[in-house]
This record gives sequence, structure tokens and C-alpha cells, in this order.
Amino acid sequence: MDAYQAAKEEIRKAADITELIGQYVQLKKAGRNFLGLCPFHSEKTPSFTVSPAKQMFHCFGCKVGGDIFRFWMEYHKVSFPQAVRDLAEKYHIILPERKLTPAQKQIMDSKEILVKINESAVEYYHHMLLESAKGRAGREYLDRRSISSDVVGRFKIGFASADWDGLTRFFVKKHVDLDKAVQAGLLIAKKNGGYYDRFRGRIIFPIFDLRNRIVGLGGRVLDDTLPKYLNTPETPIFHKGELLYGLQAAYPTIRENGRVVIVEGYTDVLALHKHGFYEAVATLGTALTVDHIRHLKGYTNEAVVVFDSDTAGKGGAIKSLPLFQNEGLSARVMVLPEGDDPDSFTNTRGLDEFLIRLEKAVPLFDFYLDQKVAQIHQGVEGQVDFLKEILPVVSEINSSSHRALYTRRLAEKTGIAEAVVMTELESITSSHSRGQETDRLRMKISESKAKGLDDLHILNLIIHFPHTVGRLMDNDCRRLLSDPLIKEIFDLICETYKQAGRMVPEEVLENTGIDAVRERFREILLLPPYYSTEGVEQAVEEFIEKAHKVKLSESFRKAKDNLEESYQLLLLKRERLGLNRNRNGIFQEEV
Ligand code: GTP
Ligand code: MN
Repeated sequence: MDAYQAAKEEIRKAADITELIGQYVQLKKAGRNFLGLCPFHSEKTPSFTVSPAKQMFHCFGCKVGGDIFRFWMEYHKVSFPQAVRDLAEKYHIILPERKLTPAQKQIMDSKEILVKINESAVEYYHHMLLESAKGRAGREYLDRRSISSDVVGRFKIGFASADWDGLTRFFVKKHVDLDKAVQAGLLIAKKNGGYYDRFRGRIIFPIFDLRNRIVGLGGRVLDDTLPKYLNTPETPIFHKGELLYGLQAAYPTIRENGRVVIVEGYTDVLALHKHGFYEAVATLGTALTVDHIRHLKGYTNEAVVVFDSDTAGKGGAIKSLPLFQNEGLSARVMVLPEGDDPDSFTNTRGLDEFLIRLEKAVPLFDFYLDQKVAQIHQGVEGQVDFLKEILPVVSEINSSSHRALYTRRLAEKTGIAEAVVMTELESITSSHSRGQETDRLRMKISESKAKGLDDLHILNLIIHFPHTVGRLMDNDCRRLLSDPLIKEIFDLICETYKQAGRMVPEEVLENTGIDAVRERFREILLLPPYYSTEGVEQAVEEFIEKAHKVKLSESFRKAKDNLEESYQLLLLKRERLGLNRNRNGIFQEEV
């Protein structure tokens, strides 16, 4: 084992998968394993399983699974080497430099370089704000908005002066690859050569990912110039639809208090933070997406969305209802008085008043209905428009009981007959052909139960009692298997055993190349043992006996087939000899 491998093993030993995943997914103990809602696909009933004994995770819904490294790769969307580096850092394990080909190095480090460049830019902007003469305008602006120095430090807020090339010159001095800085969205390449700064004359709000790395920036002007905010464009590391401003600082509290408060702006998050309220996050000026919600549901089941009164009035927020509903996150809405946002509200009225309103937040659907009912134009046209707006949203909700509930509520509040609402909704849902998925799944499950019982039992026996593998193999118990994937797993296990004289299922899994085989293997690994220690011997004997019987009946059938063949030959010969069969198939001489 080389030093790099050894370090990987050390990380594996230092990290506990339940503890690690538990930082991102709410896990509940279920027997020997832990269960939670999968962060990789939409689901409301947990099928995401973590096994402390096996140090593995697996989602029975979407089939994503593996060890700690795999989780880190999938969750943070990083490469394997990056996952190893991140986890080494997290668990304080020294990773030896690994020899890489230049091509490997380039691929491996391209995202990492962008992060480094962002961090270097923020170092510059932060310094400009705090130390430079030019930063004075920024300092005064933040003072005016009473953003405290504590918050400035914690969120690494900075200032970009009005110069066209402040950052460019800093990068030149620091030997930063300027084309990479363009890729990071910090510089813009001029048509005729040369570069200039994207962010000028703005307060800089660094945007962190969950690993506390700076992946992009938001910049606000100091006056009324437009655009008010400028963000890093989409880059390989900056995806607005996935990131939430402030989450890196808020998630421990969100988890602890079981609630997340979603606000609209960067400054709202900061103001709440300043007042000692650490549960707030903001989207980066975009609508909420399913990716946002998947991250959040790892920490809490409850979200409160805070709207400025003008945003609330527009009613677009209802579109997020299916997202919350389908991910199992309850969503309530809190509205602030006209002209206020959480920033202005807490700075003028204090946190306590904010908290009082927070407690009074109402469920998203009720909130929307109340708003709409007040606005609906009387008469049929108004009602039709209203249904056209809301029903497509309701139809996006997966749970039929919730759809029914909302239908009922709609009818009650608007006075439109429930039957009408229902028919209308059905016509929308039927075109979505809902339910097919579950039917197919149900069929799959019952099929898999019907056959392959021996398959699962034999593999289960071997996995939990590896010392049985030799005898099962030697007595040709493979013939009891019917599922091709399980046969493949069985063969892999036997091969390992033959070569090494021992077999550790988890190691075999790790060396399994084919995805489908690996998925199935993992699932089976996570099942509890079917046999007790006392029952093992009997089980082995029964399988061996069964294998013998199958072998006998197989050779019997073969013999029969052979016999049949000779019989047919005989028949042929006889026919040639001019013999024939009577009606009973008995040969007789031609008369
Ligand atoms: P302040 O005016 O500084 O208090 O900011 P705010 O967050 O209250 O602004 P607002 O409520 O107008 O906008 C909410 C969020 O939408 C901001 O925090 C930004 O993320 C985003 N946003 C607002 N204006 C712009 C813009 O001009 N361009 C982009 N890209 N995003 C914007
Ligand atoms: Mn504001």
C-alpha cells in the first residue's frame, strides 16, 4: 500500500460515516442502520440508509451509495481526489503528495484553482474595505447601514473601488493566471487584449459553499445606480440555483432549532445575524429550486419564508409549494409591513418584534389562498383565471391526499364547487400520467420477491458468515442462483476467496467495477442477517443438500435428454429400415 492509500485508510478509520453524513442529512436510527431523506433525489419517505457497521450509505430509491468518499463526492459535487483532500483536511490527516500526470492534475485542480482565485480576490477586497484610503466610501456605507464590524469579519465583506483594474493589478502582482480569473468571473477580457475588473464601486459579499469555500461574489452599488446587485456569472463552481447565502454560517443553528428562515436579500441575512439570529439564509436573487430545498431538508423539516410585502403581493411564491411539499419540508410564510424587509425591520424595531411575527407565520398554501381570494375579480372570468394559476401548481404535488386536501380548501375559500375544481385538476394531472412510476415499482418489487429467494439467502449467509463461502463454493451452490447480478457477485466473492484465502465483503464491493452489480451488492450488504449464529451450520447443510438435489435432477434431465436423443436416432434408423410405428408409438413390422 502506498502512502496515499494508507492515508485514505486512515481517513476511513478517523471518520464515522453516520457522524459525517449526519451533518448534512437528518438521520434516525432504524435497527442497525440509520434512515433519512435522500439528498440526491426527491422523496418524502426515507429510503436513504446509512450503515455504521459497514461504513456505507445506500439509497434504495435512487441507488446512489458507497463509502464516505462517495458521499462527499456526490453531495459536494467534487472529484474523488478532491473528496480525499477535503476529508483529509477535515479529519486532520496528512495526505502525501500524489504523483499525477499533467492531464490528471489539470482536471483535478481546475475547480480548486477557481476557489483559490476567489479567495485571493476576497482577501484583496476585504483588505481594501478595512485598510485602504479608497475603502473609506465602503466603510461609511456599511456604517450607514449599521452592518457591524463583527459581521463584516465573519462574512468577509469587502469593497471594490471604482478603479477599472484594481484587482487585475493585484492578480498580476500575485502571479495569478488571469485567464483563470476570467473563468472565475472576476475579470473580463478586453476585445483587444488585456483585462479589467468585473466588480467596481461595489460592496462585496463573498458567497460561501457548505465547505466554507468562496465560490462566488455578490456586489452592491453604494447608490441607486443599476444594476443594484451584480453577481459572479455561472462558473464551474458557482451555481446560483444551488447556493444559499449564509447557509455555511447558519446550518448548525438551523439543525439545532429545527427551522430555517428564508429571506430575500444578502443584507437581510446579515442584519439578522447581527441581531443574534442565526437561522436565516437567502437565495441569490433567484427563485427557490429543488436543490436549495434538498440541502435544507438535511437540517430541518420546517421552513419559514419571509416576504417583503410587495413580493408577497405578486403571488409567485406559491410556485415553491410543490417543492416544499414533495421534499417533505413544511413551509410557512411571514410577511413584513409594507416597505420593510428583515434588514430594515430588525434595525428599526428590533429582533423581538421580528420573532413575534415569525411565530405567527401561516402555512404557504393558506397564505396564498387568502391573498388571492381578496384579489380575485368577481365573476366567472376571475375564477377561471385563478384556477388556471393555482391548479397547475397543485398538480405538481405528488401526494394524492394532499392534492385532495388542497382542492377542498380551494373550493371552500373561493366558493367554486369542489367537483369543478376536482375535474379541472384531474384533467391536468391525467396528462402528467402520474402514478405510473409507483405501479412499475410495485411490480418490480413483487417480481423480485417471487423469485430468487435462494439467491438472497445464500448471499446473505456468505456476507454475514464469510467462513461459509468455501463450502458453499466447493459444493457448487452457485447452481441455486438465478439472478444474473447475484451470480456475478457470488463469482466475485469466490474469486477473492480463492485468491486470498479469505474474503471481506466490503472489500469485494469496493473492487466491483460494474455499477449495477455494485448497487445490488450494496443493498444486500445492508440487509440484516437472516440466520442466527446457531442456525448457520444447518443452513449451509441445507444449501449443500439442495445443490446436490438440483445437480441430480439436472443430470437426470440430461440423461433423459440423451435417452430421448438416442430414441429419436433409433426412430430414424427404423424408418430408414422400413419400420413404422403403430398408433401407440410401438414399432411394428409393415404388413
Ligand atoms: P438592499 O437594497 O441593499 O437592502 O438589498 P435587498 O437585499 O434588500 O434588495 P432587494 O430586496 O431589492 O433584492 C433582494 C435580492 O435580490 C438581493 O439581495 C439580490 O440577491 C437580488 N437582487 C436585487 N437586485 C438585483 C439586481 O439588480 N441584480 C441581481 N442579479 N440581483 C438582484
Ligand atoms: Mn433591503
